[in-house]
Amino acid sequence: TAFFAKGRALAGRKVLVTAGGTIEPLDPVRYLGNRSTGRMGYAIAQQAASRGAEVVLVSGPSALPVPEGVRIVRVETARQMREAVLKEYETTDVVIKAAAVADYRPKVVAADKIKKQEGEFTLVLERNPDILYELGQKKEHQVLVGFAAETQHVEDYAKGKLQKKNLDFIVANDVSAKDAGFGTETNRVKIFARDGRMWEYPLMSKSEIGGIILDHVQEKLG
Ligand code: CTP
Ligand code: CA
Repeated sequence: TAFFAKGRALAGRKVLVTAGGTIEPLDPVRYLGNRSTGRMGYAIAQQAASRGAEVVLVSGPSALPVPEGVRIVRVETARQMREAVLKEYETTDVVIKAAAVADYRPKVVAADKIKKQEGEFTLVLERNPDILYELGQKKEHQVLVGFAAETQHVEDYAKGKLQKKNLDFIVANDVSAKDAGFGTETNRVKIFARDGRMWEYPLMSKSEIGGIILDHVQEKLG
């Protein structure tokens, strides 16, 4: 359990964690964002570093302190996150994608601040690349872990993403719960493995969950 020393079980391994939400500019002063604070990803990065891994944390805007021994790469948009992640991917052993990546971005980013006008304002959005899907397509030796934040049909949606994105594990959480998900210190997750196994955990700190995710990853790494 969490109280046993995990030693340096990840020594010699490179772990890439993404955290936080991406933001998508609309004009020089405005952006579209989401409620992710980065807590889950930063907790995973900290746990991985404490187990001796080389850790790269690709993070959207977050006010959290960078865990000791972790190399941070700061990004804003989904496309910047994609670039940063792909740059590290080949040399990475484990990818844990806790980031809440914007699925869409404004099609046009205004060069000047948009002025208000009478009536409605229509915003056209275009699709962002699905970073994790791309990693799944390019997967060689890497262990891939995704997250699925859902408000309904948690199990079905999570399993669908596990298959579609060619993941080894997916961590599913119901973000409609008050004590779990965005902005909380705690989370309640189910973890699904590629081979059909499933583990359901009670409400726990994000640090503890980070440790459990890494336990599964370590078993997979052998
Ligand atoms: N993800 C990603 N790039 C995107 C969108 C999502 O890498 N453009 C990753 C997330 O970091 C997460 C996983 O994919 O690990 C699942 O994200 P989620 O938003 O739950 O799923 P989507 O595939 O975007 O599907 P939907 O939002 O429609 O449920
Ligand atoms: Ca999404």
